Amino acid sequence: MGAPPGSRPEGRADGALRHAARGPVRMGETRVGPHFRYDLRAPRLEELDQFIVERPIRDWSVVRWKDVGKPVRVENYASGKRLWEEKHGDTMPVKTSWEMFNRSFHSWFVKDGREAQRAAMRRMLRSVASLRADEIASVFEELQQVTLWNLAHRVTDTIWDPRGKRALFRGLDVKRPRILFLGAAEGYEAMQLYAMYPGGEAVMVDYDAFCRDHRFGDFPEDYPFLGYDPATGSARPWYRSEMKLTYLVEDIRKLPFGREFDIVLSVGLLEHFPDEYKPECIEWHRKFLRPGGYAILTTPRLGWRTKLFYHVMAEAMNYTYRELMTVDQMGLYLYENGFNILRHGWIKTHNGIVAQPR
Ligand SMILES: C[S@@+](CC[C@H](N)C(=O)[O-])C[C@H]1O[C@@H](n2cnc3c(N)ncnc32)[C@H](O)[C@@H]1O
Repeated sequence: MGAPPGSRPEGRADGALRHAARGPVRMGETRVGPHFRYDLRAPRLEELDQFIVERPIRDWSVVRWKDVGKPVRVENYASGKRLWEEKHGDTMPVKTSWEMFNRSFHSWFVKDGREAQRAAMRRMLRSVASLRADEIASVFEELQQVTLWNLAHRVTDTIWDPRGKRALFRGLDVKRPRILFLGAAEGYEAMQLYAMYPGGEAVMVDYDAFCRDHRFGDFPEDYPFLGYDPATGSARPWYRSEMKLTYLVEDIRKLPFGREFDIVLSVGLLEHFPDEYKPECIEWHRKFLRPGGYAILTTPRLGWRTKLFYHVMAEAMNYTYRELMTVDQMGLYLYENGFNILRHGWIKTHNGIVAQPR
């Protein structure tokens, strides 16, 4: 059993995670930290099915676009994108938009959520007292953003959603798998998969070096990924330093790999491609899979929560082309592009699909 690096909090041989001031987070418990939630709930795999709402489609050959409709585009962009385009007299290249997105998104992950909310509230009160309407409007916007971020990421954990992700990932017929994560950003889901299927290797790929150096580089050493111990078969937390992880800064289109991975994964990638490019994005999930391997994809789910999130957080998030879709639409894209759908459903605010090439 390994311990997380750093001294606070510390992993222990009984699987508990010790918070210096407030006692350990034990297996089965959760605790909200300043930046994120520690979550060791649902250690038994059988407890997980309540965290995925599985859809009932069994025969995808009869599903038609007229029945499921098309995704909704998110149209309100961050002002940084508009300013860049005004300055350069051109549309922002896709890679530049990812570079801006990653820096912005990361700045939210490293915020102390409680402190940021308190500070915004103090500024709000001061600006109301000074009766400066322009300042009140901008501080109110900031307060909305920190409040929503705090709720979505730290309190309800809808972005990482470890129980939902574990529910989606469970039951794969793999041992010590090689996992390829396309557009890996901070690499969260590859680490969660590694914890559930330990002993193999996860290769993360992102063409933005900031992701390797900061989003993944600064990812907390003490985050407990709930998985299992192959020696005993019992549940245990894994920490990133115990995993075999490789991070490649490379364009997915230039990867040197053949059909050699047991799992090819993407999280929030497909919805960034307009329909004419989706077949290419889906092909990326097939071309590196060994026969019998699994493609796992998630996308944000179309619904009022995600619409609100991308509306309030537009300045932080909306640099790239983005769609919100239903899991039925996502499944039809995959089915039409040569995949059989093994599992499809909602996990909190994301759609999740496990599929295999036909
Ligand atoms: C929306 S992010 C994935 C969502 C992620 N979970 C997050 O928290 O940001 C998509 C990632 O894919 C990367 N990406 C997009 N196109 C790529 C390509 N052709 N090659 C490599 N990485 C790519 C971007 O740099 C970005 O970090």
